[in-house]
Amino acid sequence: MAKILIKNGTVVSDTDSIRADVLTDGETIKAVAPDISDEEAVTIDADGMLILPGAIDVHTHMDLDVGFDRSCDTFYTGTIAAACGGTTTIVDHMAFGPKGALPWHQVEEYHRLADGEAVIDYSFHGVLQDKVDESVLTQMREIAEKEGITSFKLYLTYDSMLKDRDVCEVLAFAAENGILITVHCENDGIVNCLRDHYGAEGKLSASYHPKSRPAQAEAEAINRLLCMAECLDEAPVYIVHLSSKAGLEAVMRAKEKGRKHFGVETCPQYLLLDEALYDDPVEGLKAVMSPPLRTGADRDALWEALADDILDTVATDHCPFTFGKQKQRGRDDFRLCPNGAPGVEERLLLLYSEGCARGRLTLPQLVRYLCTNPARIFGLYPKKGILRPGSDADIVIFDPKAKGILTRKNLHGNADYTCYEGLETTGAVDTVIQRGQVIVKNNEFLGSRGDGKYLKRDISSLCR
Ligand code: URP
Ligand code: ZN
Ligand code: ZN
Repeated sequence: MAKILIKNGTVVSDTDSIRADVLTDGETIKAVAPDISDEEAVTIDADGMLILPGAIDVHTHMDLDVGFDRSCDTFYTGTIAAACGGTTTIVDHMAFGPKGALPWHQVEEYHRLADGEAVIDYSFHGVLQDKVDESVLTQMREIAEKEGITSFKLYLTYDSMLKDRDVCEVLAFAAENGILITVHCENDGIVNCLRDHYGAEGKLSASYHPKSRPAQAEAEAINRLLCMAECLDEAPVYIVHLSSKAGLEAVMRAKEKGRKHFGVETCPQYLLLDEALYDDPVEGLKAVMSPPLRTGADRDALWEALADDILDTVATDHCPFTFGKQKQRGRDDFRLCPNGAPGVEERLLLLYSEGCARGRLTLPQLVRYLCTNPARIFGLYPKKGILRPGSDADIVIFDPKAKGILTRKNLHGNADYTCYEGLETTGAVDTVIQRGQVIVKNNEFLGSRGDGKYLKRDISSLCR
C-alpha cells in the first residue's frame, strides 16, 4: 500500500485547526506535522482544503427488517453512500428479531448481512427486545466480551419495547458490566392513544404523523429514562435522535442536577427540516420518521445546544425507504408508512454548510460531533475520531469553498430521494481515504467490498 502525503492543508481536531501535513503509512497515520517530506509517498496537494478525521455515524439502519419490508440500502450500497459523504465508520442499529429472540440471534443475522458487504469499517449496537431475563443478561455479557459489541439499544415505544421494570434490570446490569445502553425515547402510551384517536376520526394524512408523536412524548420518556438511570447506579445511557426543545429541556434539567453519565445525539433532519414538510400529503411521506420533524423553535434550540456543547453527537438515523414504492404504503394511512428517511451521505456536508459556513459551529465542534465524540463514547478512540500518529488513516479532504446544490442525482444510496433536494450548499467532500487507501475521489467510489474486518469495541468504553 502506497504511503500518502497530504500537504499544505488545515488539519482540524476536536480542539483546534492547524496548518500541517499528514503522512500515512500502511493503514495508519505516521505523522502530522509542518513540512513533512517523504520521497516514497504519493503526494496530494491540499492547499485551501480542510483535513478532517473520517466521520463516524453511530446511528444507521442498513437492510433493516421492519416486518413487512426492509430499508432499501444494503450494507454494500449504504456504506458506499456513507463513504462518498465522508463517513468511514458506521455503528449500525440491529433490527428487532422474531418475537422473543435473544440477543445472539440478531448478532448472527447482522454478520450475515454485513460481513464482506460493508465497504467501510463497521460495528453494531446489539438490540434488546420484548423482555429481560437471566439469559438475555448472560448473552449481553458474552456479546460484549466476545464480539466487542459494548452498546445495546432498547426502545420505550414500538411493539418490542421494554417495560420500565426490564429497563431498570438492564441499566443495573449495564452499569456493572461497562455496557452502554442507547435508548429510543418516546412515551408509548401517548403515541398509541393519539394514533388510535386520529385513526378512528379518519385523520390519516401525513400531517397527523407529528401530531401523534408530540414533543412531550419524547420529553417524558427522556426524563423517565434519566430518572431510572440515576436510581440504578448512574448507569450510562445514550439518548438517540433527540428532536425537540422539550426533550432538550429534560436533558438540561438532568445536567443541571449534576448528572453526567449520559450522552445525547441529534440528527441533521431535526436541525434543518421542520413539520411544514408534512403539509403536503404526498411529499410529506418522505419525512415520516420517528420521532417526527418539529417546529422552527425546536430546530433553533437544537442548534443552540450544539453551539453550547450540550449535545454529544450528530448521527443520521439513516433508514431509507423508496418514495416511489415503499413510502407509498402510507398514502392513505400514515400509520402504514415505513418510518425513516435517508441521510447517511448528506451529514458532513449539511453540518458544514448549515453549521460552520453560517457561523453556528466552529470547525473543532464539527469534528467533535461527527468524529471524536462518537469515537470516544462508543469505544473507538483513538483508533478512530482523530488524526494523530498511530490512528487509523481515515481522512477526509474537504473543500470549504465549493458551492453546490444538493440533489439526489449526485448521491449514491438506493433511496430515490433526498429530504434536502435543491438546498444550496457550501463545501464539498473532495477525497476520502480509509485505512490508507483512497476510496472516494470526484464523488466516485473507488474502493471495493470490505474485507469483513469487523470493528470490536473496548468493553470499558462509557460516556465521556
Ligand atoms: O423512523 C425511524 N427513525 N426509523 C428507524 C428506527 C428508529 O426508531 O430509530
Ligand atoms: Zn429510534
Ligand atoms: Zn434509528
